[in-house]
Amino acid sequence: MKKWLGLVFILMGLSAIAQNKIIPAPLSVKPAPGYFTFDPTTYFLGNDQVAYKDGYVIKDFLIKYYNLPLKTATKSIGVGKHIALKYDSTLAVADGGYHILISPENITITGKNNGGVLYGLLSLMQLIEKTGNTVQIPCGEITDYPQFQYRGMHLDCSRHFFDMAFIKKYIDYLAMYKMNTFHWHLTDDQGWRIEIKQYPKLTEIGAWRDGTMVGHYRDQQYDNVRYGGFYTQKEIKEIVRYATDRHITIIPEIEMPGHCMAALAAYPELGCVKDTTYQVAKGWGVFEDVFCPNDSTFIFLENVLDEVMALFPSPYIHVGGDEVEKIRWKNCSHCQQLIKEKGLVNEHGLQSYFIQRIEKYVNSKGRSIIGWDEILEGGLAQNATIMSWRGEEGAILAAQQKHYAIMTPGSHCYFDYYQGAPQLEPLAIGGFVPLDKVYGFNPIPASLTPEQATYILGAQANIWTEYINFPEQVEYMLLPRMLALSEVLWTSKENKNYDDFLSRLLFHFQLLDKTNTNYAKSIYQINYKVTPASELNKLNITLLSNPQLGKIDVQTINVLNGSKNNFTYENPFTVSAETPYISAQLNGSIKNTPTTQIKLKFNKATGKSITLKNEPSKKYSADGGFTLINGVEATVNPSWNGSEWLGFLGTDLQAIIDLGEIDSIHSVTIGCLYDKLSWIYPAESVQIWVSTNGKNYEQAGKIKYNGDQKRNAITISSTVKTGRYIKIEAINLGTIPSGNPGAGSKPWLFIDEISVE
Ligand code: ACM
Ligand code: ZN
Repeated sequence: MKKWLGLVFILMGLSAIAQNKIIPAPLSVKPAPGYFTFDPTTYFLGNDQVAYKDGYVIKDFLIKYYNLPLKTATKSIGVGKHIALKYDSTLAVADGGYHILISPENITITGKNNGGVLYGLLSLMQLIEKTGNTVQIPCGEITDYPQFQYRGMHLDCSRHFFDMAFIKKYIDYLAMYKMNTFHWHLTDDQGWRIEIKQYPKLTEIGAWRDGTMVGHYRDQQYDNVRYGGFYTQKEIKEIVRYATDRHITIIPEIEMPGHCMAALAAYPELGCVKDTTYQVAKGWGVFEDVFCPNDSTFIFLENVLDEVMALFPSPYIHVGGDEVEKIRWKNCSHCQQLIKEKGLVNEHGLQSYFIQRIEKYVNSKGRSIIGWDEILEGGLAQNATIMSWRGEEGAILAAQQKHYAIMTPGSHCYFDYYQGAPQLEPLAIGGFVPLDKVYGFNPIPASLTPEQATYILGAQANIWTEYINFPEQVEYMLLPRMLALSEVLWTSKENKNYDDFLSRLLFHFQLLDKTNTNYAKSIYQINYKVTPASELNKLNITLLSNPQLGKIDVQTINVLNGSKNNFTYENPFTVSAETPYISAQLNGSIKNTPTTQIKLKFNKATGKSITLKNEPSKKYSADGGFTLINGVEATVNPSWNGSEWLGFLGTDLQAIIDLGEIDSIHSVTIGCLYDKLSWIYPAESVQIWVSTNGKNYEQAGKIKYNGDQKRNAITISSTVKTGRYIKIEAINLGTIPSGNPGAGSKPWLFIDEISVE
């Protein structure tokens, strides 16, 4: 009996908490009986101007998401049922924290500072339940505050330009999920987007390009449509006000000393090479032309920064500093003279000198700089904060030197990367950052001491827009991944749980549907894993999906007689050369979810045993050797998790396949990837040997590489016609040839399927 009572109480508690749909999950939610019911006389009552304004912001959200118009008032006279908004700087929570008390009569939201009241209101809004005409909120008490003080989202408005209306919408999304920083990437090679009164050509010339790359970089195709746009100072002031009302700080980024083709096109005298025609870049990538660190360049940049600082009240100004090619400085007499004069080591020292000189200027105006992690090279500027994008390393080095750092590693925070299988997603730059990966991110690098960890301010995700032309596509890349990031940054570790997040997310999808937001449905994609089967010439298929999203409908097709077999997925199943085509789709509440198509290619090696003499790089190890004989050919995106590529950095592939029995062998084909931009080169040559006993091998064929497709199938005819064991050696090119990205470095060798006929 006692046991039962205990269980009932636990279940009561659980069901109330389960009804909590708030993202990011709050610190503490204590349910109480009853409901607060909205009626037409319900007021927001702000006891001071700031709280009143927060009520005003939420009014917009309530109309947008719940069609719920509410009145606001600053005085309680004549106001009946109300939601009281209060500021209390002594509230025992971290900055941005709040406390909510919901009773059937009234609601009180007490916020600390930095948006506490707004955050309380946002949480409250997510608790609204609507049944028929009744709009209500379950009673209870919430205490909440964020784990990290820097919760950022970035948007690149240079590669593609987004208008005022969308920038406001973007800020709304950030506010809705308690993000507090908008990193606005305003200048780059492909367009200068901020009006600078003293230098009008920056926008007259620098904001426009005569064409844009179409398709992927590797295709090198362009249109010749003039493209551009910029924000006037008046518009920027409006955006800053809009963001401030939503407790969002905008950090503007003015890129230097690289990524400045647009500025050079407007003012060529700022570059090292004077007798040249600079153009606003039409394509993506890293360019050799950079600012020349001479006095007139510094005067120019200081004047630009003066106007920028007048527009943006942010304590931080982002000065870029990433991906600075050194070749122009190497060949510039002024730059070489400066290196000597200042006693700098080399061009890396010059980069450091450049950033430090700018930092002094920005500091003299009472602001601090942020730079990408390259600004660590050649000595860190005195007070600079690092944005660690090339992994965690930059942040670790910064924190060890007692510098603040913001985590934005490509592995978890690049929202321009794919979030699902590339063949089911719109074209993206590459990479793979799915929702659960974002959710699993820990902004504190494991190697930091607790004291060093205090220098990690938080994290930010970046949306670079080379492949993102329209607002709808920004929404797609942003959502739902930003919701996962918001929980990474706000929610305490103890309250984080991916399955629970997913159940709350489904409710938020409904909210986003109400505003016609183009969020990604990539989580509804079904992933799969191919594993060896116990029977010879067969493979096991495991389908992967979160059970909360629904059951999986499967169809296999028999290629011999055309018959189809439909079933609901329960357990891994076995397929053979007769049933190589499999399609899988969720049968849940969401319609039109993507279909995963698996097309296996069976050959004599498929599903057999394989051993590798050289392990591939950890980063590109897929399912080890089995990846090469699992019947699945790779896509051309090597970073995708479901990728079928094995990557060898500077080393060779050496594999032995055991066919299980002596068989005829006429040819062996091996797939290699060719992607110069990513330093990936096909094998320089491939050799095969054949053996009947696994001891004595006879050379059976050798081929030199020649070809240049993205995926090369290198086929060798076998001179030895029977055997059981096949030894394959694919030789790494060794060195990247001159004139190519990464020239002189070790190239990658990427191998996918090996087939034996
Ligand atoms: C960067 O992605 N170049 C900071
Ligand atoms: Zn120079």
